[in-house]
Amino acid sequence: MTDPKRYLITSALPYANGPKHIGHLAGAYLPADIYVRYLRAQKKDVVYVCGSDEHGAAITIQAMKENTTPREIVDKYHAMLKSNMADLGISFDIYHRTSAPIHHETAREFFTMLNDNGDLEIKETEQYFDEASSTFLADRYIKGTCPVCGNENAFGDQCEKCGSTLSPEELINPKSTLSGNTPIKKLTQHWYLPLNRHEEFLRKWILEEHKDDWKANVLGQCKSWLDAGLQPRAVTRDLDWGIKLPNEVEGGEGKVLYVWFDAPIGYISATKQWAIDNNKDWKPYWYNDDTKLIHFIGKDNIVFHAIIFPVMLKLHGNILPDNVPSNEFMNLEGDKMSTSRGWSIEMEDYINDFVKKENGGDQMVDALRYYLYAIAPETKDSEFTWKGFQDSVKGELVDVFGNFVNRAFVLMHKLCKGKVPPLHPAIIDDIDKALLSDIFNAKASIAGLIESYKFRDAQYEVIDLARKGNKYMQEKQPWIVAKSLEANPEAQQLIDNCLHICLQLTANLAVYINPFLPHAAKKMCYMMKVVNKILDWENAGKPNLLSVGYSLREPQLLFRKIDDTEVAEQVEKLKTKSEKIKMDTASSNLSEGVALNILPVTQDTQNNTTSQNAPAEGREVKPEIGFEDFVKIDLKVGTIVAAEKVAKADKLLKLEVDLGFETRTIVSGIALHFEPAAIVGKQVTVVTNLAPRKMRGIESNGMILMAEDADGKLKFVNPDEAVKNGSGVS
Ligand code: 2FM
Ligand code: ZN
Repeated sequence: MTDPKRYLITSALPYANGPKHIGHLAGAYLPADIYVRYLRAQKKDVVYVCGSDEHGAAITIQAMKENTTPREIVDKYHAMLKSNMADLGISFDIYHRTSAPIHHETAREFFTMLNDNGDLEIKETEQYFDEASSTFLADRYIKGTCPVCGNENAFGDQCEKCGSTLSPEELINPKSTLSGNTPIKKLTQHWYLPLNRHEEFLRKWILEEHKDDWKANVLGQCKSWLDAGLQPRAVTRDLDWGIKLPNEVEGGEGKVLYVWFDAPIGYISATKQWAIDNNKDWKPYWYNDDTKLIHFIGKDNIVFHAIIFPVMLKLHGNILPDNVPSNEFMNLEGDKMSTSRGWSIEMEDYINDFVKKENGGDQMVDALRYYLYAIAPETKDSEFTWKGFQDSVKGELVDVFGNFVNRAFVLMHKLCKGKVPPLHPAIIDDIDKALLSDIFNAKASIAGLIESYKFRDAQYEVIDLARKGNKYMQEKQPWIVAKSLEANPEAQQLIDNCLHICLQLTANLAVYINPFLPHAAKKMCYMMKVVNKILDWENAGKPNLLSVGYSLREPQLLFRKIDDTEVAEQVEKLKTKSEKIKMDTASSNLSEGVALNILPVTQDTQNNTTSQNAPAEGREVKPEIGFEDFVKIDLKVGTIVAAEKVAKADKLLKLEVDLGFETRTIVSGIALHFEPAAIVGKQVTVVTNLAPRKMRGIESNGMILMAEDADGKLKFVNPDEAVKNGSGVS
C-alpha cells in the first residue's frame, strides 16, 4: 500500500489464563512494538491495540485447575499481563479486554450483521458429548492423538506439538478432558461461517495480491489450507462462559460465540474504547481504505488472521489486513518453550529476577528486547539460551554499542573540555567521509528493513553502525594524537574532527536504536542534554544533530554484563521448575486426579458457583512402574485431628493429621464430599514424602489416599482395624 493515511497495528490478544513467556513476547508483541515506535518516530497517525482474550476453554479449564471461577482467572491474569507488557516496554495505545461490555456489544453486533445478511449457515450436526459432565466437547475439552504428528495429547482445536489446527472429529482415540471418558455423539445446532464460499476471493487476495509482501511461512500455511479445500467453521459453542448469542436469535439459548469468532473482533472493540478515551473517531481505522492494518501474530494464529478473520471483515464491510507478520517458534535451551511443562521463562519471572533488582531496571528490559530480536525466529525456529543471552549482551551491547558511546563521551570530556568540538572542513579525510556516509546510508537501509518486517536485520544494522564507530575511533586514535599536542597544537583539529563525528554518530545511534531499545535511547538523550524529540526519524542520518560548543553530561552505563552466576541460577531454575511441574502433575493425578484434570466442573457464570458431576468409570491403567519406583513412596497411617474449609476454595479442606511422630497440615480436595466435623477422628493413609505444595497459600505436606466408587463418591483408604498412628503401609 502506498502512503497510508493512518496505521492500525494489532498484536494477538493473549489468553488471560496464565503468565505468558518470552517466546510470546518475541512472537507477537516485540516486533509490533518496534514497528509502532518506528512509525511514531515518523509522526505517523498510528494506533496500537491489544488486550486480554478472556473467553473460551483456555479460561474455564484454568479456572478448574485453580479451583476458582473464570471471572477470577481473567481478572487475575489480565492484570498480570497488562503490567508485564508495560514493564517490558510494549507501548500499546490501549490494552483492553474481551470481557468488557463494549466488546460483548461489538461482537454481538458483528454476529447479528452476518447472520441477518445470510452470511452464516445454521446446521444441526452430531458432536462429541461427555455424558458424565453433560458437556459438548469442543476445543480443549477434548483430547486425542494428533492425526498429523501422532502427539497423544492434541486438543480438539489444535495440536500444541506440531501446531496443526484441528477439529475434534480429526482426533484419533478422542477422550473427554473433563471425565477421561470416550465421548458419545449427540445432535446440536450451531452457526457456521461457510469459508468454502470465499475460496476464490482468498486465493486471489492472498496468493496473488500478497504473494510478494507476505512472509513465506504465512503464505505457505494459507496455501495448504486453500489447497485442502475450505470447510464451513462453527462460530458458536454450547458453553456458558463467553459472549451469549443475541436474545433475538432463535435457538441461540445456552450458546456463546466461539472464542476465535469474538477474540479478533476484540481489535475493533479495543479501537473503539481507545477512541472514547482519546476523543477520537474509531471508524476510519476500520473502514477507510487508506488505513494500513497490520496483525502481528504467533505462528499458531496464522489461519485465524489470514483466512478466517479476513472473511469476517469482508462480510462486515471492514478493511482487510495489509500484512500478517508471523514468526516461527523460539525454543529454549534445547527444547520447545512451554509454560505448562515449566520449560519457559515467564515475562513475570524475568521482570522479578532482572528488572526489579538493584542492578536491573530499564537496561535489563532493553537487554532482553535486544537478545530476543537478535535471535528472532523470523524465518526459522530459533533458540534462546541463557549463555547466548549473556554472550550477546556482552558481545554486542556492552562491548560494541555501549563501549562506543562511552568512549566518545569519555574522550570528549578528556580532550574537548566536555563540549561538542567543532568540525574543521579543511582536514576532513576519506575515513571521516566514509563514516559520515555510513551514518547517512543507515537511515534508508534500517527503514527499508523495518518496513519489510525484517526487524532482526534492522537491529543488526544499528549495532553494525556502532561497530563502524569503534573501528573509526581505533583508526583515528585521538588519545595517541593528544600526546603530540604539546609539540603540535594544530593536532587538536584532528581530535576535534574525530570526536565531533563520533558524537554526531552517537546522536544518530540514539535515533536508530530507539524503536528497539527505547530506554537506552532516552538515557542517551539525557547524556547529550537533548530532549527526546531528537529521536524523531526525520533526524536520522543527519551529521549535525549536536551543536558545536554544547556541553554534554558525563556518560552513564547503558548496559551491564550478565554474570556467570546469573546464568547458572537461571538454568538451574528452569530445570527445577520443570521437574516440579512433572512431579506435581504426577501427584495431582494421584490425589485429586480427577479434581484437577478430569472431574467436570461447570461454571455458573451468573452466580459463580461451581458444581461437580460424577466421575467416570473405567479409568485407564497407568504405565507400568518398577518395584524400585513404588518403594520410593512413603505411606503411613494417621488420624485426622482437625478439619476446616479453605476460604474461597469450594473443594479444599485443610486437615491436621496426627502421624504419631508429628502432626502435619495437609490440604485435600475433598470438601464437596465430607463435612469437616464428620471426619475428625478418622484414620487415613498418607503419602508422607511428597514434596510440599502450596494451595491457596497453605502449604500442604502430604496427600491422603482416597478411593472413588462408581458414583464418584470418595472414601478414605484406611486399615480395617485401628492401628497406631505412624504405622507404615506397604
Ligand atoms: O492463541 C492465542 O493466544 C489467542 N488468544 C490469540 C487471539 S488473537 C486475536 F484473535 F485476538
Ligand atoms: Zn500434531
